[in-house]
Amino acid sequence: MVFDYVDGGADDEVTMRRNEDAFAAVAFRPKMASGNVEPRLGVTVLGTEIDFPVLLAPCGLVRLLHADGPTGVARAAASRGTVSVLSTVSGSPVEVVAGESKAPLWFQLYSSAGLSEADSLCDRAAAAGVDVLMVTVDTPTLGNRERDVRHGVAPPLRVDAHNAVPLGLQVLARPRWAAQLAATGIRLSRKGAGPVGHGSGLLSSVASPFSWDDLVHVRNRWHGQFVVKGVLSGADARRAVDSGADAVVVSNHGGRQLDGAPATLQTLPGVVAAVGGDVEVLIDGGIRRGSHVVAALALGARAVLIGRPYLFGLASAGEQGVVRILDILRAEMHRTMVLMGCSSVDQLSPDWLEVPRT
Ligand SMILES: Cc1cc2nc3c(=O)[nH]c(=O)nc-3n(C[C@H](O)[C@H](O)[C@H](O)COP(=O)(O)O)c2cc1C
Repeated sequence: MVFDYVDGGADDEVTMRRNEDAFAAVAFRPKMASGNVEPRLGVTVLGTEIDFPVLLAPCGLVRLLHADGPTGVARAAASRGTVSVLSTVSGSPVEVVAGESKAPLWFQLYSSAGLSEADSLCDRAAAAGVDVLMVTVDTPTLGNRERDVRHGVAPPLRVDAHNAVPLGLQVLARPRWAAQLAATGIRLSRKGAGPVGHGSGLLSSVASPFSWDDLVHVRNRWHGQFVVKGVLSGADARRAVDSGADAVVVSNHGGRQLDGAPATLQTLPGVVAAVGGDVEVLIDGGIRRGSHVVAALALGARAVLIGRPYLFGLASAGEQGVVRILDILRAEMHRTMVLMGCSSVDQLSPDWLEVPRT
C-alpha cells in the first residue's frame, strides 16, 4: 500500500504517463567535436545558489516510507548542495525539520481550514527560519487515486471488515518497518504536522480551494519569497505573477490530481513565454533521468523538482538513499551535457533540441 501510495496517480494515470512520455519524445541536437567539456551545472534559484538544478518536491507522509522522514530528506538535499521543500502534511512539524536538518528549507502550504489556518502555518514556518513559501494551487479537492481506494487507505481512512485483514498482513510482513513507524510515528494533530482532517486522516486535510484573492492574502502575510506550484498555462502563470509570485512551478502534481491534464513539459514553453521574463519558472513531473533535467532547462526552466525518484531512494535506504538518487541524477546530467558538447546550463536553449517538443 505504501508503494502504491507513492507510485500511483489519479484515475487512469493518463497524465502521470504523459509526463514521462513527453520527456521520452525529446530529441537533442548535440554539437559534436566540442573538445574537452567540463560542464557547469550550478544555478541560482530565488537567490539561492544550488550545485545542480534539481530540488526535492514537497511530498506528504514521507515518514511512512522510512524513519529518516523529512529530516533525512532535508539533510540529503543539503549534503548535495540543493534544497528540499517540506510539505504541510509531511508527517513532521516544520519546527522539528528546520531545527534538526540545519539546512535551508522551503515550506509548501496547504490549508483546508481557510485563511486563518494559512496565516498560522505561515507564521510557524517563518518563525522556524523558512524563507521560501510554495503554495500548491492544484488541489481544491484530492485527486481520485484508485490504488489507494483499492487498498482502503484513501481518505477517509477507515480500517474496517473489508481492509483490516489485507492491511494487517502487509504490516505483519514488514515487522522492522512497522516497528520503526510505531516508534517514530506520524504526527496527526493540528499541533504537529499542520492541519488535520475532520476526524478522517491527514491526507483528507490537503484539499485547499485557494482563490487568487487568497493567494494575494497569503503573499501579503509572507515575509520571504513566494512560489506558486501547479500552473499549467501561460494565463494562470500570469495570474500567479499578478498575485505576487516570485516563481511558478509548472506541475500537475505528478499526475495525482486532474487526470487528463497535459504533460508538464508540453506546457512549459507557453508558461515561459508568458512570464519567463518576469519570474523564475520551475517544473516537475516525470523527471527520471539527468537528460530530462537538461531538456527542461533547454525549454526555459530555471530548475526542476523531483518527487517519486527521491521517495524511492528514501524508502530503499533512508537519507543515504536520497543522496544516492541525487548523485545518480547529477552524474547523468553531467554526462548528457558532455555528450551534447554543452559547457554550461546557462547556454541551454531550444536550439539544443530537434523540432519543438512533444
Ligand atoms: C507520495 C507523494 C506525495 C505528494 N505530496 C505532495 C504534497 O504534500 N504537496 C504537494 O504540493 N505536492 C505533493 N506531491 C507532488 C510532488 O510535489 C510533485 O509535484 C510530483 O511528485 C512530481 O512528479 P514526479 O513524482 O513524477 O517527480 C506528492 C507526490 C507524491 C508522489
